[in-house]
Amino acid sequence: MDRRMLVAGNWKMYTTSGEGAVLIQDIAQLVEEQWDDVEVAVCPPFTGLKAASTVIELDRLRISLGAQDVHWEAEGAFTGAIAPRMLTELRCDYVIVGHSERREFFGDTNETVNKKVRATFDAGMVPIMCCGESLDVREGLGTEAFVRTQVTEGAGGLTAEEAARLVIAYEPIWAIGTGRTPTPEAANDVCRAIRATIGAMYGPPAAMAVRVLYGGSVKPENASMFFSEPDIDGALVGGAALKAGSFADIVKAAR
Ligand code: 13P
Repeated sequence: MDRRMLVAGNWKMYTTSGEGAVLIQDIAQLVEEQWDDVEVAVCPPFTGLKAASTVIELDRLRISLGAQDVHWEAEGAFTGAIAPRMLTELRCDYVIVGHSERREFFGDTNETVNKKVRATFDAGMVPIMCCGESLDVREGLGTEAFVRTQVTEGAGGLTAEEAARLVIAYEPIWAIGTGRTPTPEAANDVCRAIRATIGAMYGPPAAMAVRVLYGGSVKPENASMFFSEPDIDGALVGGAALKAGSFADIVKAAR
C-alpha cells in the first residue's frame, strides 16, 4: 500500500489572519513542484481559516486546510467553541484532535478526543488525532502501553473505512518545542505500535492505510531521517511551520 506522505503545519496560537494568508502564499511559491508527491496541509487558528481558505481557492493551491480543534456537538450553548459544520463551511479537510496542549491546558481526555474524532468524520473531515507520552510516562508505565491506550480509546467506534482514512500524529510531549527528539528508530517503533493497534481494532487493510505522522521538533535538518523510516508517513510541524523556507524544506525532505 502506497501511503501518500503528509506534511502538516500546526500554527498553534501564532498567526493573525493576515499573517497566515501571506505565509500560505510564500509556502505555495516554494513547494509547487512537490505537490504531486507530498500532501501539504496548514492548520491556522480558527480566526485565520476564512482567509486561508480564500487564498487557497483563489490561487487554486493544492494545500489542504485543517483546524486545530473542534467541539463534538453539532451546535449548542458552548460559549467559545466551534462546531464541525462551521469548519466544513470554510472547506476544512482536517481537524487536529487531542493535541497534548489541548489535553494539558483545556482538559481534553481520551473520551472527549473520541467524541471529537467521531464528530469530525461525521462532518466529512478527517481527524489528525494526536497521541504521545510525557517524560514521566516514558520512564514509568512506558511509551508504547500509554500510546496504545490513547489510540484504542481515542480512535474507538469507527468503521474500518474511517480508520483507513484517519491520520494519527505521534508527538512525544518532551519533544515538542524543545529541540529534543527521539531517534528516528525509536519514533518508528512507536509509530509501528500505533499502526499495529489500528490493525488489531480494524484489520490489516486499515493498518496498512492509516497515516502515522511524527511530530516534535521536526526541522529541515532532521526531517529526512524521520521520513526514511517505514512507519512514518510525514510530520506534524510546529515552530518550523511558521517560516515558509523551513516548512518548504521539510516538505522537500518528504519526497
Ligand atoms: P514543534 O515542531 O514546535 O516541536 O511542535 C510540534 C507540535 O506540537 C506540532 O503539533
